[in-house]
Amino acid sequence: MKPEMRVVTLCENSAGLRRDVLAEHGFSAYVEFGGIRLIFDTGQTTTSVHNARVLGIDLAGVPIALSHGHYDHTGGLASLLEETGPVPVYAHPDVFDARYSRRGGVLWQNGIPFDREALEEMGAEFSLSRNAREISSGLWLTGEVPRSTDFEGTDENQVILSENGEIVIDPLLDDQALVLVLARGLFVLLGCAHSGMINTLIHAGRVTGVDTVLGVAGGTHLGFGGEDNLPKTIEALRALDLEILAPSHCTGFAAASTLAAEFPDRFILNNVGTEIVL
Ligand SMILES: [Fe+2]
Ligand SMILES: [Fe+2]
Repeated sequence: MKPEMRVVTLCENSAGLRRDVLAEHGFSAYVEFGGIRLIFDTGQTTTSVHNARVLGIDLAGVPIALSHGHYDHTGGLASLLEETGPVPVYAHPDVFDARYSRRGGVLWQNGIPFDREALEEMGAEFSLSRNAREISSGLWLTGEVPRSTDFEGTDENQVILSENGEIVIDPLLDDQALVLVLARGLFVLLGCAHSGMINTLIHAGRVTGVDTVLGVAGGTHLGFGGEDNLPKTIEALRALDLEILAPSHCTGFAAASTLAAEFPDRFILNNVGTEIVL
């Protein structure tokens, strides 16, 4: 039987055992689903382009979707547009916000490192929306994710400057996930899940009207959550009874190894070149 989906990790913090691909802090995945192809997030620099070539993936004409505006998910946009040519780029309007991470009392720019106009000159055809939308039959972007659980949400080190120059917590309203509606349930691809992985899975069910989540992959931000974030996430994942748990990127080593121990037969170590076919 023909597979319903193919997801290949193009950019991730680790290259695992492979010798031919490059790793960097960031995330990007290549998706084939329902006869269409899509790039979800871009990584930080040019590694997604390099890795796609090594992995034999032709990106010409492939549209792009962005999970949020952070540099490690958007910094590869210019190099990818050189490969794709003019294509739709799906995102939330806040994706262009100037934003920072606070580390040791210093603010580091961590927003998208390009002007919208420059990207448009390179062929980006921006399609911006705050709301959930079905970009192709059975392929959804969640739009803004309501913060409904009590153990997920804001990261005090992600900030923006208010109109009067005050440092305020970045609400990261642009954070969204890609959702594939498969015959047996949903497969959800996360960028950083700044809204929370469980909030995102709940919202994915709501917007698609499908209440079974088959699998989840991508950045979970569990490495940056509060004290009860990981145990309560594990409890919620048990209740959801996923078949595939393939976290990457901002999950971090400690949370990823805890998930691997808790879900040994469902966990996939998701690095550059990992391919999930369902
Ligand atoms: Fe990230
Ligand atoms: Fe992020």
